[in-house]
Amino acid sequence: MSKVTVVGAGNVGATCVNVLAFNEVANEIVMLDVKEGISEGKALDIMQTATLLGFDSTVVGCTSDYAQTANSDVVVITSGIPRKPGMTREELIGVNAGIVKSVSENILKYSPNAIIVIVSNPMDTMTYLTLKTTGLPKNKVIGMGGTLDSSRFKCYLSKALNVNPNELEGMVIGGHGDTTMIPLTRFASYKGRSVADLLSKEDLAKVVSDTMVGGATLTGLLGTSAWYAPGAAAAYLVESIIHNQKKVIPCCVSLEGEYGQNDICIGVPVVIGKNGIEEILDYKLNEEEAALFAKSAAAVRSTNDVLKEINVL
Ligand code: 2OP
Repeated sequence: MSKVTVVGAGNVGATCVNVLAFNEVANEIVMLDVKEGISEGKALDIMQTATLLGFDSTVVGCTSDYAQTANSDVVVITSGIPRKPGMTREELIGVNAGIVKSVSENILKYSPNAIIVIVSNPMDTMTYLTLKTTGLPKNKVIGMGGTLDSSRFKCYLSKALNVNPNELEGMVIGGHGDTTMIPLTRFASYKGRSVADLLSKEDLAKVVSDTMVGGATLTGLLGTSAWYAPGAAAAYLVESIIHNQKKVIPCCVSLEGEYGQNDICIGVPVVIGKNGIEEILDYKLNEEEAALFAKSAAAVRSTNDVLKEINVL
């Protein structure tokens, strides 16, 4: 029996639950929200698609009743406010830090062995906060950002190359911010051929800049933060944990010397399996990439510092 809880029944949380159920990632999926009726309603709506889509997972919704989340193997935290057009993810810290902290405390009361996946923004700082305040081992706290950013990178690459995105390799490391993420063009390829050999410098630079503002572009179009890809990215990560797939996914994880960084959670390629983070992979960055990574880490660190200023850490 496997059980997954998704906290937050907003657009991202509900999409995540929908994808988890449709793909039968877990036997039982619990969706919890503070707003009365929302998670119950969305869970019932999703359950009414079971016979149409042919899945056997059970989806249950509850309002702030953490007892119903007991013994979850994985918990996805999407709680908090999303950004509005023109806002950065970092601006959400004041409201979201308190929410994420109390959610993780409540979750661990009932699921002390759970692996926690953080989606709430600013994602790198919320991952760091969760690691510090829960005292969980570092393999059990995973931030989702790079999973989503890499999928956006491959989407823009596929458009520029006019190829199937599933035939592409591409990874985004660093922070999950408009100016902090680093699409690794040197490691991006189409069936073993480097994308740098297939695209002009200008076209590749445009793919990189479009990827970096991928979330902001959608916020501008939708008037709120995106949800299909963020929800699916969280579900993709959960699937690799529950089914011990050992997929290599760029995720926000605690670094202790890897990539020249300490006391920070930031995106790097990791192997994701039943223990959460199974291994951090060393991609041997060149000088230019390492400089971008150090700059990204400095920006993430300065957002982390705000946690102390607002007394949540
Ligand atoms: C995004 O990039 C929600 O941060 C998320 O769309």
